[in-house]
Parts: sequence; C-alpha cells; structure tokens
Amino acid sequence: MIFYFSGTGNSKWAAEQVAALTGDRAYDITHLSERPSLQGEKQLGLVFPIYAWGVPEPMLDFVKGLEKTSAFTFAVCTCGEEAGLAMKKLSGLYPLDSCYSLVMPNNYIIGADVDDDETARQKIRAARQDIQTLSGEVIRQEQVCRVHQGSLAGLKSSLVNFGFNRFARSTKAFFATEACIGCGLCSAHCPASTISLVDGRPVWGKRCYQCLRCINECPQRAIQYGKSTASRGRYTIERYLTEN
Ligand SMILES: Cc1cc2nc3c(=O)[nH]c(=O)nc-3n(C[C@H](O)[C@H](O)[C@H](O)COP(=O)(O)O)c2cc1C
Ligand code: SF4
Ligand code: SF4
Repeated sequence: MIFYFSGTGNSKWAAEQVAALTGDRAYDITHLSERPSLQGEKQLGLVFPIYAWGVPEPMLDFVKGLEKTSAFTFAVCTCGEEAGLAMKKLSGLYPLDSCYSLVMPNNYIIGADVDDDETARQKIRAARQDIQTLSGEVIRQEQVCRVHQGSLAGLKSSLVNFGFNRFARSTKAFFATEACIGCGLCSAHCPASTISLVDGRPVWGKRCYQCLRCINECPQRAIQYGKSTASRGRYTIERYLTEN
C-alpha cells in the first residue's frame, strides 16, 4: 500500500507512478474513512511534499497512528529544491527501510514565484526517471537513502520548520478578489475542510496545512495571500502531465 498527501498534485502523481510500477495501490490519506490494515502487505510507501524542510502535519499525524509492519517500508518526498532532515524526523516516528527525495516544480508561491515552464517540465522529466529507478529498488527491497538535504539542513529542519508551523500557517492573509465566481472548488478541495462559501465567497477557518491548493487551483486566479501573490504565477501539475 502507498499512502500520500498532496497539495498541488506532485506527490499524488509520484505516488501513483510508483504504485503503477510496483503493482501497488495509492491512497490519499485525507480521504481514508478508517485506519488501513497492513496485514499481508509486501510493501508500505509514504509520499508527501516537503514543507519548510519538514514533513506536513497530516502525514506526521497519519504515521503516528499507523500500525507497525514487517513489510518493506519506504518514503518519497517531493520538494522544489531540498528536503532538509525531514526523512530523519519521519524515520524517528516510523521505521523506514528506504527514503528518497524527488525535485519537482515549486508550489510555494507565498515565498517565491513558480518555476518557469521549461524548468518545471525538466524537473518532471527527471522525476519520472528517478521514479523508474526507485521503483525497481523497492521491488527488489533494496535499502537505499537518496535524499537531497541541502545546506544548513539541521537549522532549517528545526528552527525554521518550528517557526513555519507556529507562525506561518495562518489563514488570515487569504482573501478572494472580485474575480471569484463562487464555483466552490476551493471549498470542496481543501484537505483541511477549512473553507466555507458564505454568500458565494470563500471564507477561511483557522485550521490550515498551507498546502496552497486553494490559491494555486482557483480557476479564476481569484485567491491571494497578502500582497506577495498578485504578481506570481500559479502551479498545479495537471497541465504538464499531458506534455511529459
Ligand atoms: C508551505 C510550503 C513549504 C515548502 N517548503 C519547501 C522546502 O522547505 N523545500 C523545498 O524544496 N520545497 C518546499 N516547498 C515546495 C514543495 O515541497 C514542492 O513544490 C512539492 O513538490 C509540492 O508537492 P504537492 O504538489 O504534492 O503539494 C514548499 C511548499 C509549501 C506549500
Ligand atoms: S475556487 Fe476561486 S472562483 Fe471558485 S469559489 Fe474559490 S475563490 Fe471563488
Ligand atoms: S485553506 Fe488552502 S492552503 Fe489551507 S489547507 Fe485548505 S487548501 Fe490548503
């Protein structure tokens, strides 16, 4: 079984690619109605994006409640650039036989602009190849750790990650502009179920993973976060998949 969390599709795509190549199934952890049983499973995979050099809260919560297994366990994170010590943290919570990072297009438009089209395409092409390689290693149950941690990984995965979770996950800066047509997509797709439509306009509750699906996916580009996102692009993987 492969379990994934994904905001804008990179990790979902990676999980589904690995599942297809290893003859497995991929499940979105935010859509599970009950705790899965791992009885009889040959392998267990965890796939998620990197948030501030760490593991997203929903994936951390998920593994804390996951039964231990004798199956081969592996984790794959997708990141724009570098993963820090996220895998070390995860393996402290759940034993891992293998771990990997895949560099994929950046979706953190609060911090920086999206990658240009050519860079995004190139990253997806390279990730496709990396997935072929790692899937073979998973099938052969080879223990591998191929993670790009980047510089100052200890500092980023501790102090910066703490600051992110403590202060940066506020929904206060989200708002919808006049371009909003009240389609309800942001509300229906929010993995934290935190967006409601009031008088046809989205209103954000407090709980937020900062997955940035709402702001990246809005078909009208009507969602902004403070002042920084108005001039930036939007990213979801869908439009690149037909080309790669
Ligand atoms: C809140 C947030 C924080 C992020 N922090 C990092 C980071 O520390 N390092 C990095 O390389 N990419 C970072 N990214 C980029 C994502 O990890 C990357 O785009 C990922 O592939 C998105 O996966 P998804 O499409 O499955 O949500 C961040 C993205 C978000 C939304
Ligand atoms: S997805 Fe965009 S257009 Fe649709 S309701 Fe949300 S903000 Fe409005
Ligand atoms: S409000 Fe937006 S950023 Fe926060 S969890 Fe929901 S979709 Fe993700």
